[in-house]
Amino acid sequence: MATIIDGKKVAADVLEKCAEEITDLKSQGITPGLAVVLVGEDPASKVYVNSKVRKCGELGIHSEKIVLSREATQEEVLETVKNLNENPRIHGILVQSPPPPQIDEEAIVRAIDPAKDVDGFHPENVAKLALEDPTGFVPCTPAGCMELLRSAGIKTSGANAVVVGRSMIVGKPMALLLMARGSDATVTVAHSRSKDLPGICRQADIIVAAVGRPEFITDDYVKEGAVVIDVGINRVDDAEAKKGYRLCGDVDYASVAPKCSAITPVPGGVGPMTIALLMKNTIKAARFARA
Ligand code: GUN
Repeated sequence: MATIIDGKKVAADVLEKCAEEITDLKSQGITPGLAVVLVGEDPASKVYVNSKVRKCGELGIHSEKIVLSREATQEEVLETVKNLNENPRIHGILVQSPPPPQIDEEAIVRAIDPAKDVDGFHPENVAKLALEDPTGFVPCTPAGCMELLRSAGIKTSGANAVVVGRSMIVGKPMALLLMARGSDATVTVAHSRSKDLPGICRQADIIVAAVGRPEFITDDYVKEGAVVIDVGINRVDDAEAKKGYRLCGDVDYASVAPKCSAITPVPGGVGPMTIALLMKNTIKAARFARA
């Protein structure tokens, strides 16, 4: 039976270390600060933004939540970012994705001071990740996945890893992290146009599913004994659930879990890690600001 990788527990360990670092920074008169910008009213984004702000409160990180209307203009969002870039109490800036369609997200990301880009989406930080330069910020979700693999004692060196999905938030940075020196996996990046996706996935010792489609990866995609990291958080209608929906991953847990050696659940797997790594990045930004 598969080991269930407990993301809540691993996240709690990361946050415990964060708390120690915050105490240390505060003793030097520095309180780390994070600004979270939400444009519009996407219900899932609202939940994520609120949990990020709540976590800051629990840890003693200063936070500012800035909510702009669904009709906000590009100029308004850019102005917000500019002010945050100049605000010395703010060390990390995050603009929740996806913004409404009138917003050019790439231009917003480029406007964020790379030293405050705790999401790791700015081209300078993307380059630093590719260059294996440790002064950059690594996107929180893939960094969280790597931490889960490490904590579960899963050997990546020489392993065949298949990343399903090529997004800038997860798939691409995940591939870079897995292939980086020290991780040393052999990485395949597959996506919606890949030929024989089940066949590619069956080659994998480690599968990272980041497709954004509910329960897409079934047992047919998974080799006996593989490790499966499920990045998906999908809302699917469920008349029997209190809220009218339930959360599920990109992996069909029921059919896949019995086949693999380790798997992350949804919820309680990758999700808690994303927030924990965001806190860690914010502390890193605060340390850099002082240096
Ligand atoms: N939307 C989904 N994941 C993320 C993330 O890690 N950062 C931001 N800014 N938006 C997201």
